[in-house]
Amino acid sequence: MWNALFAESAPSPGWPIAAGPLRVPAGVVTLRPVRRRDAREWSALRIDERDHLEPWEPTVEGAWRENNSPRAWPEIHSQLRRSARAGATLPAAIELDGRYCGQLTVGGIVRGALHSGWIGYWVGRPFTGGGVATAALALGLDHALGPGTLHRVDATVRPENRASRVVLDRCGFREEGVLQRYLHVDGAWRDHLLVARTAEEHGAGAVAALVAAGHARRV
Ligand code: ACO
Repeated sequence: MWNALFAESAPSPGWPIAAGPLRVPAGVVTLRPVRRRDAREWSALRIDERDHLEPWEPTVEGAWRENNSPRAWPEIHSQLRRSARAGATLPAAIELDGRYCGQLTVGGIVRGALHSGWIGYWVGRPFTGGGVATAALALGLDHALGPGTLHRVDATVRPENRASRVVLDRCGFREEGVLQRYLHVDGAWRDHLLVARTAEEHGAGAVAALVAAGHARRV
């Protein structure tokens, strides 16, 4: 096992990412690599839905409108792809019935004796409330712990983010504790819950668990 961990054959296991399809009440969810031509849909969802996203996302310098304009995307996209090729990130577009509707990223990937990364996601408000994030997270988690060959995936979430906590819980994340004043979000340093899942506790996987619980159906 240890030899396998240190002798990974691919430089970026799990990239390019492809997962799904999975049917949930909202429709059919898939994950695919982010594309340069996602600019318009990415920007429209983020600019229109600032109040939906900003309370939960890390503070970044600059104005929301500029940071999320279609002009900003090519550079963000290039950085994500570079990082993916280097094996540090698995950046995915979430599609619902073939339409771009949000993003899921496995980032901070470290190999060697850690073999871990974090996972984060957002779904545009017009697409929420129908199981999209739950399906995307299950697909992303199975991908990270499967083809991505990670041993551990963790996530941080504000305690107030009830919807995201439901999503994490349904995908089997276990709470590990509170990170006090962990991240600057929406104007202040905010406490976050740390949740995680390791390969040992993943069993048949998050998608299989969702299907067994009646939350999703394989297509
Ligand atoms: N209290 C309790 N449950 C709630 C609440 C609430 N206030 N709001 C929603 N829910 C429930 C929903 O009813 C649903 O459960 P159900 O299937 O039993 O009805 C569940 O939470 C949400 O599940 P999905 O439908 O799979 O999630 P959705 O596609 O609506 O996306 C998400 C949820 C990702 C949180 C979306 O609202 C979003 O992008 N928000 C803004 C950005 C964000 O918060 N990202 C996550 C940051 S944390 C992280 O990345 C680890």
